[in-house]
Amino acid sequence: MLEKLINTKHVCPCWLCYTFDNPLRKIFHDPVEILSPYVHQGNTAIDIGPGMGYFTIPLAELVGPAGRVTAIDIQQKMLSALMNRAQNKGVADRIKTHLAGTDSIGFNEKADFILAFWMAHEVPDEQKFFSEISDLMKPDGLFLLVEPLLHVSRKNFARTVETAKSVGFVIKESPEIRMSQSALFTLGKKGCR
Ligand SMILES: C[S@@+](CC[C@H](N)C(=O)[O-])C[C@H]1O[C@@H](n2cnc3c(N)ncnc32)[C@H](O)[C@@H]1O
Repeated sequence: MLEKLINTKHVCPCWLCYTFDNPLRKIFHDPVEILSPYVHQGNTAIDIGPGMGYFTIPLAELVGPAGRVTAIDIQQKMLSALMNRAQNKGVADRIKTHLAGTDSIGFNEKADFILAFWMAHEVPDEQKFFSEISDLMKPDGLFLLVEPLLHVSRKNFARTVETAKSVGFVIKESPEIRMSQSALFTLGKKGCR
């Protein structure tokens, strides 16, 4: 089933993650520079679609020993590689993983910060996906959505942002991130519960 989805919905396969998940990426995507304005010591964070943890491990460093990060992916291989890296970096005790279903995240612990970096275009039902993300947000939480300029046209990104707004998200800002288009969301009154 997952193999079929990977082939038909262009879910990033594990081997492809190695090509862009490497130290050279830091030249254009410095995780601390990107995340530190939004993530603080003691926070609870979720990295959805983390791949092999390019952002998850810096997130665990930013939340510190009192914070927690959950990495949620539909591919167990990604989560296993991520946890190996976390062990090597000494932050495994702050990270837990959750294997999502292809049609539902299936997780219900709320977070201060949620990251979806270069993954939303792989999701088959964006409306359901954003609705589930909104359920995972603490009332003052932040959701950073980042999509690649290469695969996702500006028009499609604008449509994705509209879908996020339709489930209650409100744009707070649009951070400049290289090779990307992005939106930082909060929950509007409609989404606040
Ligand atoms: C292109 S990789 C991006 C990895 C990472 N965020 C980064 O920027 O290095 C996309 C990841 O999203 C995951 N993914 C795709 N659809 C997903 C879904 N519905 N829920 C959770 N993860 C998903 C894929 O398995 C893959 O690990």
